[in-house]
Amino acid sequence: MQKKLREIHNQASAEIAAAQTEEELKQVQIRFLGKKGEMTSLLRGMGQLPPDERPLVGGLANQLRDELTNLFAAREEELRSIARHRAAAEERVDVTLPGKPPLVGHLHPLTLIMEEIAEIFLGMGFTVKDGPEIESEYYNFEALNIPKEHPAREMQDSFYIRPDILLRTHTSPVQIRTMEELAPQVPVRIIAPGKVYRRDDDATHSPMFHQVEGLVIDRDISLSDLKGTLLLFARQMFGPNQQVRLRPSFFPFTEPSAEVDIACVICGGQGCRVCKESGWIEILGSGMVHPRVLELSGYDSEEYTAYAFGMGVERVAMLKYGIDDLRMFFSNDIRMLRQFG
Ligand code: PHE
Repeated sequence: MQKKLREIHNQASAEIAAAQTEEELKQVQIRFLGKKGEMTSLLRGMGQLPPDERPLVGGLANQLRDELTNLFAAREEELRSIARHRAAAEERVDVTLPGKPPLVGHLHPLTLIMEEIAEIFLGMGFTVKDGPEIESEYYNFEALNIPKEHPAREMQDSFYIRPDILLRTHTSPVQIRTMEELAPQVPVRIIAPGKVYRRDDDATHSPMFHQVEGLVIDRDISLSDLKGTLLLFARQMFGPNQQVRLRPSFFPFTEPSAEVDIACVICGGQGCRVCKESGWIEILGSGMVHPRVLELSGYDSEEYTAYAFGMGVERVAMLKYGIDDLRMFFSNDIRMLRQFG
C-alpha cells in the first residue's frame, strides 16, 4: 500500500508539472485528490490493513497529500503568473512606434489670400469694411449708375430673391454703403473683401467668387494715386519687380475706367498658355468714381475726387499659387487644400 501511495504521488507530481493551463491543473487535482480521486479511494482501503500498520500508512498518506496540495498551489501560482505575463506582452504598447498624426484643419487658400491682400492694404492706411451678400437693387445697381435697362446689368446677371433683392454681383455696393455712412468726411480709405454671385460657371468662372473692393475719397485724388497704390500692392503680393498695366475700359460707376493687368507671373511677361501669349493677366476693374455716384451718396464732386477698384481674389490666388482651374478652390479636394496648411 505504501508503494501504491508513492506511485500515485509520483504520477500526480509529474502531471502537475506537465499541466499547461489552470484548467488542466484543476482536472489533475480532481483526479488525484478529489472525493473520487485515486488517493482518496486508496485511503478508503486503509481499514483492511493490520492495525499496527495503519498509523504508519496514515502518516505517510497525510504527508504525501500535503505535499501534493503544496505542489498544486505552487503550480497554480506559476501558471497564473505565466498567463499574466503573456497578457501583458500582448497588450504592450510600443511607445517608439510613429503615431497617427491628427488631421489639423486650416484656413482655406482663398481666405489666406484675402487676408494677405487685406494686410497689404492695411499697411497703406486702409480699413476693412463689410457689406451684406443679399443686397438691394439700389445698392447693387441704381446707386452705381446702372439704371434698369442698362446693358451692364446683363454682364452681371444675378440670382434674384425678389424683383428688388438679389445676391450681390460685386462688392461695389459697399462703396455706396460706406459713402452713406461717412459722408461728407474725408479721407475715406477702405477695402471690402467678400463673396459675390453671378450666373456663370466654367473653368475660369464660378457662380460664387470673391472680390476685394477698394475706395479712396479725398481732395485731389487722381488716377496716378490709383496706379501707384496698385503697383505697390502688386509688388508686395508678387515680388519687387512686378509691373502693372492700365487698359481703358468701361464701368457705369467710374469715369475714366481701367482694367488693370499684372505682368504674367507664370512666364514673367514672355507669353505663355496661362496669359494667352499676351504676357499680361487681368486682376481687377477700376477707375475714378463717377461724379454722379459721389453726389448721389453725399459727396460734393466739385470738392472731392475718388478712385475705386474691384479685385478678383480667385485670380490673384491662381497666379500666386500657379493654379490653372478656378474650380479647384471649390471642389473640397483635401489633397489640394492641405498644401496650404
Ligand atoms: N465692380 C466691378 C466688377 O465687378 C469692378 C470695379 C470696381 C470697377 C470698382 C470699377 C471700380 O466688375
